[in-house]
Amino acid sequence: MGNDAIWKTEGAGKRAAVQGMFAEIAPTYDLLNSMMSLRLHHRWRAFAVRKMELKPGDHALDVCCGTGDFMVPLKKAVGEKGNVSGVDFCLPMLERAQEKKVAGGRSLTLGDACQLPIRSESFNGVSVGWGIRNVPDIDAAHRELFRVLKKGGRFVSLDMARPRFAPLRGISEFVFNTLVPKLGSIFGKTQAYTYLPKSTQKFWSRDQLAASMESAGFTDVGYKDLMFGNICVHWGRKP
Ligand SMILES: C[S@@+](CC[C@H](N)C(=O)[O-])C[C@H]1O[C@@H](n2cnc3c(N)ncnc32)[C@H](O)[C@@H]1O
Repeated sequence: MGNDAIWKTEGAGKRAAVQGMFAEIAPTYDLLNSMMSLRLHHRWRAFAVRKMELKPGDHALDVCCGTGDFMVPLKKAVGEKGNVSGVDFCLPMLERAQEKKVAGGRSLTLGDACQLPIRSESFNGVSVGWGIRNVPDIDAAHRELFRVLKKGGRFVSLDMARPRFAPLRGISEFVFNTLVPKLGSIFGKTQAYTYLPKSTQKFWSRDQLAASMESAGFTDVGYKDLMFGNICVHWGRKP
């Protein structure tokens, strides 16, 4: 199956296809991420980490951690006495995180967001950056993220969204459907970068995501749009 069809797959087929796609783009992921977000992703991550209300000495987990960019502001929030762990199911992405030494004193584990290899109630905060859209079973992932949080712990998820204002949505879809695959093509990854706009257009709405989080047990669920509604941060608390 070509990468251009990944966004159409579901279930186990999606899991394998997404895993293969990230293995393929791991070497250029950070560069393209910075180019496409105009480096604003650092600011969005910092906002999401603030919503986690972490304290020095806390334990934080980043699921779908990829090359580890979320682990940097997490480590800043928990300080020297705290620790940050990362889980991802794609070894080449984790190897990048390892090379960048984001895990200095922190641990990286190969694992699936829908079946985390982690004991229940282990973390004060759990984050997911641009990961939920990619998992084959979002409800199952939310239940797992809830399970590994300690009582009172907070979860945040940062991901792509579709602007609510129709003219803005039109412009955004034009840009994403044309420029992003073109940018990917410069690096020989056209098909993988077709997945980003297509999977965003197919992704759950803000309210569907919030409802899934509430079904998993989260309370105080909320969300905020960033970048004119092209990005949305969801958060919730384990009571
Ligand atoms: C778009 S990247 C985001 C990486 C990182 N969180 C960031 O903020 O830059 C998505 C990551 O989610 C991982 N991923 C997708 N589905 C997953 C799953 N079911 N379990 C674990 N990791 C998954 C991919 O391997 C990839 O590293």
